[in-house]
Amino acid sequence: MTDPTALSTPALLPVKIAGTGSYLPERVLTNHDLEATVDTSDEWITSRTGIKERHIAAEGEHTSHLASNAARAALEQAGVDPAEVELIIVATITPDTLTPATACYVQQQLGSLKAIAFDISAACSGFLYALEHAKHCVGAGAFKNAVIVGAEKLSAFVDWNDRNTCVLFGDGAGAAVILPSTNGDGKILSSQLGTDGAQAELLNIPCGGSACPITPENAKEKSAVLAMQGREVFKHAVNAMKQASVEAIEAAGLTPGDIKLLIPHQANLRIIDAIVERLEINRDDVFINLDKYGNTSAAAVAIALDEAHRSGRINRGDKILLVAFGAGLTWASAVIEW
Ligand code: ACO
Repeated sequence: MTDPTALSTPALLPVKIAGTGSYLPERVLTNHDLEATVDTSDEWITSRTGIKERHIAAEGEHTSHLASNAARAALEQAGVDPAEVELIIVATITPDTLTPATACYVQQQLGSLKAIAFDISAACSGFLYALEHAKHCVGAGAFKNAVIVGAEKLSAFVDWNDRNTCVLFGDGAGAAVILPSTNGDGKILSSQLGTDGAQAELLNIPCGGSACPITPENAKEKSAVLAMQGREVFKHAVNAMKQASVEAIEAAGLTPGDIKLLIPHQANLRIIDAIVERLEINRDDVFINLDKYGNTSAAAVAIALDEAHRSGRINRGDKILLVAFGAGLTWASAVIEW
């Protein structure tokens, strides 16, 4: 018989976010620019999504480059030498290559030669999935530090002739450095993750994987671009993010009134408004930057966290709530005491 005590999980030490960083490629593509290429309007995009513009990576600028730039900024802020990094996790659905992982390229670009590096594929929830992994790895004492990155070059996986999707997405990266918490300098209070693979068809990139390889013969009719049933995804997004938020707040022993700043996934302003209404959180306490960047999937919460931090919206002791939702379906939330 198995000894149950031998299987018990050792208590995790608290961990904190010691630094944040983000990077957006230089080129900006506005709604008006898109009016010239697809049958859409700035009015439609703004009223249905809140998005005004997005950033697009340059030719030769890959997801790993965006990720490394964001990671460097986070490491610099945390005062951690890239050579001392022990763990790199990149959350992305737009990797440089199917293999090796984008995190391996990032390891080389950062010069973090001691680090273990791997990717997580959890779409827009990926950065918070990475946070959960890092919390366990660093909290258990197996790694002294971790760099987690959400990075996407969605422009490479969008059908630029499909107005249903091409107006929604953008490129970018955000990162955070995870360190053990020392007295009074912040910690992750709670986190919740969820997955519903039964809804995988609602949002996917149907081809380009082993289920549907792209070959010279089928290249014209098979598509390695994002396909989404927008209305259905919308409903799931509101319900899942609301529920994940409530659970994380409760698990932290708090009430919505204790949350100083809500940083939600930046997909659609109407989704954010619907969640805020259901959570009874003050609209002024919600960080929104989707107007500038569109939906950058795994990068969105990470970029917003960095902008909120660097612009002074987060101060020592503040309780902040991060929540995300994406393909999978996946969802995730975390309450952090800064
Ligand atoms: N310009 C003009 N008209 C458009 C455009 C456009 N860019 N796109 C769609 N339309 C049209 C449609 O063809 C449709 O026309 P019809 O009524 O004649 O058929 C009409 O506008 C309404 O289309 P809907 O899809 O019903 O529009 P909706 O209000 O649902 O908005 C949207 C669409 C923005 C996609 C919304 O459903 C949404 O945000 N969904 C959730 C997205 C999300 O959260 N994704 C999760 C993460 S993404 C990830 O994991 C990678």
